[in-house]
Amino acid sequence: MPPVKRFTVLLVFTALALFTLYRLKPPSSYKFAPHRPPLDDGRFHWETRSQLHPVSSMIPLPTGKKVEIPRIQFKFPPEDTEARKLREERQKAVKETFVHTWKGYKEHAWLRDELTPISGGNRSTFGGWAATLVDSLDTLWLMDLREDFAAAVAAVREIDFTNAESEKINVFETTIRYLGGFLAAYDVSGGRYPVLLEKAREVGEMLYAAFDTPNRMPVARWDWMGAALGNEQEALEKTLLAEIGSLSLEFTRLSQLTRDPKFFDAVQRITDQLAAQQMDTKLPGMWPIIVNARTGNFTDGGFFTVGAMADSAYEYFTKEYLLLNGRSPQYRDLYERFLPAANQSLLFRPLTPSNLPILFPGGLAISTPTDHTLSPHCEHLACFAGGMVALGSKVFDRPQDMEIAKGLVQGCVWAYESMPSGIMPESFEAVRCEATEDGAECRWNEGRWLGAVAKKVVEDEEERGVESTIGSVEEKARKRIEDYKLVPGMYDIGDRRYILRPETIESLFILYRLTGDPALPHTAWRMFQAIQKHTRTEFGHAALSDVTVPDPPKDDSMESFWTAETLKYFWLMFSESRVVGLDEWVFNTEAHPFRREG
Ligand SMILES: *[C@@H]1O[C@H](CO)[C@@H](O)[C@H](O)[C@H]1NC(C)=O
Ligand SMILES: *[C@@H]1O[C@H](CO)[C@@H](O)[C@H](O)[C@H]1NC(C)=O
Ligand SMILES: *[C@@H]1O[C@H](CO)[C@@H](O)[C@H](O)[C@H]1NC(C)=O
Repeated sequence: MPPVKRFTVLLVFTALALFTLYRLKPPSSYKFAPHRPPLDDGRFHWETRSQLHPVSSMIPLPTGKKVEIPRIQFKFPPEDTEARKLREERQKAVKETFVHTWKGYKEHAWLRDELTPISGGNRSTFGGWAATLVDSLDTLWLMDLREDFAAAVAAVREIDFTNAESEKINVFETTIRYLGGFLAAYDVSGGRYPVLLEKAREVGEMLYAAFDTPNRMPVARWDWMGAALGNEQEALEKTLLAEIGSLSLEFTRLSQLTRDPKFFDAVQRITDQLAAQQMDTKLPGMWPIIVNARTGNFTDGGFFTVGAMADSAYEYFTKEYLLLNGRSPQYRDLYERFLPAANQSLLFRPLTPSNLPILFPGGLAISTPTDHTLSPHCEHLACFAGGMVALGSKVFDRPQDMEIAKGLVQGCVWAYESMPSGIMPESFEAVRCEATEDGAECRWNEGRWLGAVAKKVVEDEEERGVESTIGSVEEKARKRIEDYKLVPGMYDIGDRRYILRPETIESLFILYRLTGDPALPHTAWRMFQAIQKHTRTEFGHAALSDVTVPDPPKDDSMESFWTAETLKYFWLMFSESRVVGLDEWVFNTEAHPFRREG
């Protein structure tokens, strides 16, 4: 570069930097001063931001004839009066719980991200854009709380996506909660509130800027102000599979509704990367929990799970196939290569006193091609898996998978019903039964349970460099069981909390709508009663810190998925089957239903 030109560049740069600094000085009246991009009219217009790395050709939404997808929901027979009465009573109780929570939110946390249910305060956890309000819009509509819905819709105009309360934005959480929340509220209310689509587009335009990287992979934990200022950005070397793999439904629905293909283009590029490398990982069919989005190489890494950090990436294959009405066989292929790998390598049956045929997905560590270690780790988060497998079984006509789905759902039900509180903990370790031809290893054997508990005691002692004075293996185990309140079949409970999570009722709901098994609503009702009783506070419902005791202590926290997901799925469990029918709707991973268009 000739010196004069270099000087000009320098000058322009300095001027720009000074200008930027000047513009960044916030007006004194400004609410969240530190994190505001430069503004002209008090707003940053994401849609006018020019792309540093524009795509050379846009991938359009797939067109063409839709593929015939088998019927998904069970054909429920007409209901008798008794059954209807019971169902409606239960549904009313769920709605009452929602109304109680909403009252607390309105009075103490309106337009804030979360209510603090014990202290009656509020806090900002997801950018400060009223996460609970946006996440609950479709629930308000479905429960027929029309006045509250109208008030919430009126308030969404006040949410300002040109500004955030945190420096880094989690692109995945913003997509599933906010973008998903607006889109579903727009869809369930039949398109009668255009502001909901406007807001969806506003969030979408903001998030689209996170994809402006050299390889078009999004920055998962995103410096949004840097992007607003036009800085260069690259995707992260360590990106969680779930955070890059579960954006497709929301961006696709946004393209369908706005007829702007760029959102679909953005997520389809991720799917193409996943598909190209699916069989090249250490566990062909699946991807490790951490992938390198900067290089776009998704094959390194040796830990595989369908639980935390991966979960919804797998859930979205079938759902995206549904949203596109079968027009992209790629999503079917992705699922059909994934499921057998997970079934073969991750699913295991725990040893239980009543020899239940239940399943959990564990975690698989692969260090060398021959060194595979399955950890019998069970997580509440992974309880969505039963619903996922049930749905895939219907959509892709894989009837043999329905048994797997039932095993997974019943595993989580077992974990709920084993606890003195009636609620499953966040995570625990189970004793795995190794199947033999005659099934003998799967029959309850107290000695094996005690052995696993004792082994854990010894490991802990080694880790801490102490040795207990208790002698025999059996004594060690019995003392640990008493101290740690372990229930038969579990040898450790790593995380005793219940944070108002939805995954088990989500899977129960899907399984019920697909099979019509009349026992499932009763199971759901027992779960609901336990949760409602233990979590209720003056202002709302609170997370629990230890579900292994009959009367669990509470934490001052209520995430937005309580009203977005948990209560919505409980309510739908007791609704008529035509309400949000699964042949017309598809749920995102935050329980937001999108309409499947023709
Ligand atoms: C949220 O909490 C702050 C104090 O932290 C309080 O000033 C404000 O009034 C609360 N918001 C609502 C809607 O109650
Ligand atoms: C990813 O990296 C591995 C080595 O770590 C290499 O063997 C493989 O070819 C790379 N794949 C792609 C698609 O770049
Ligand atoms: C799942 O894996 C088990 C054990 O490897 C096998 O017996 C079963 O047939 C598999 N089920 C399906 C549906 O592939």
